[in-house]
Amino acid sequence: MAVGAAGVEVASINGADTVVNLVESPPGLPGFQCEAAEAFERLGLRITGSPAAVIRATTDKEATRRTLAGHGVAVAPGGLIDPDNPAALDTVPPPWILKPALEDASLGLDDGAVTSDRAQAAARARDLRRRFGGQDVLVEHLLPGREFNIAILAGASGPEVLPPAEMTFVDFPPDRPRILGWEAKWDQSSFAYRNTVRVFLDGAEPELGEDLARIARRAWAACGLAGYGRVDIRLDDDGTPCVLEVNANPCISPDAGFAAATAAAGIEPAEVVRRILTAAGWSQ
Ligand SMILES: Nc1ncnc2c1ncn2[C@@H]1O[C@H](COP(=O)(O)OP(=O)(O)O)[C@@H](O)[C@H]1O
Ligand SMILES: [Mg+2]
Repeated sequence: MAVGAAGVEVASINGADTVVNLVESPPGLPGFQCEAAEAFERLGLRITGSPAAVIRATTDKEATRRTLAGHGVAVAPGGLIDPDNPAALDTVPPPWILKPALEDASLGLDDGAVTSDRAQAAARARDLRRRFGGQDVLVEHLLPGREFNIAILAGASGPEVLPPAEMTFVDFPPDRPRILGWEAKWDQSSFAYRNTVRVFLDGAEPELGEDLARIARRAWAACGLAGYGRVDIRLDDDGTPCVLEVNANPCISPDAGFAAATAAAGIEPAEVVRRILTAAGWSQ
């Protein structure tokens, strides 16, 4: 197994080359998330995880929303908003959350992303377009319910849904949006980071767990994921689970949610890697 560029391993296996594709986009270039995968595919290499086209499609939050809705998977009410003519605010019920359509890692998401004020929402849309290189801006109804991450790993008999994790918002003051914004994900010194805590359902609420698993599996199939992935779900005003996002190449580092889910399922890291490689066509 030869190590290629940073984050990329090229493994020559059984005469056929398989690339362990762990490439993420360079800062500020979300559209480049799938460039590496595309390049490998053009070279005739097999890659781990989802195909380039799937990474590209799921990087686009609005395209993903449409794909999911087309497959009967509930999503938050929302759509693209034209910062110069924010008519979308007439059709999406407040409170609103505004986000860049092509980013991940909660870029552009701080408490100012949530508002019920029309003028503020329009200003935020303009601000996001300016800050994120002119990319589209998405407005969604802020789903007030609980938030779950559902990790899925390929297995011998198809994709295996791993134990559902709830992201809990501990001691959040009532006026503070309960969202996993940039601070909550990255600023270890922040209240939001320390007070957003992952808790596995652990067999409690089995009906909810089954619902989440069914929806995540449907989202996986609708988007054409392979190998591994993570589906983020949030409950709406009446408790219906809506898919927020489909992550075709979630971080698999030991401190990230995917690894937490495989650990909760009792799957050793080496077995996780073996399964991801096997799904990419590798055989021992
Ligand atoms: N419609 C929504 N309702 C409630 N919370 C949301 C909504 N959209 C995003 N969020 C919050 O923001 C976080 C990040 O949003 P997400 O769309 O997953 O973007 P990213 O790709 O940056 O992770 C979510 O985990 C959730 O906490
Ligand atoms: Mg997300």
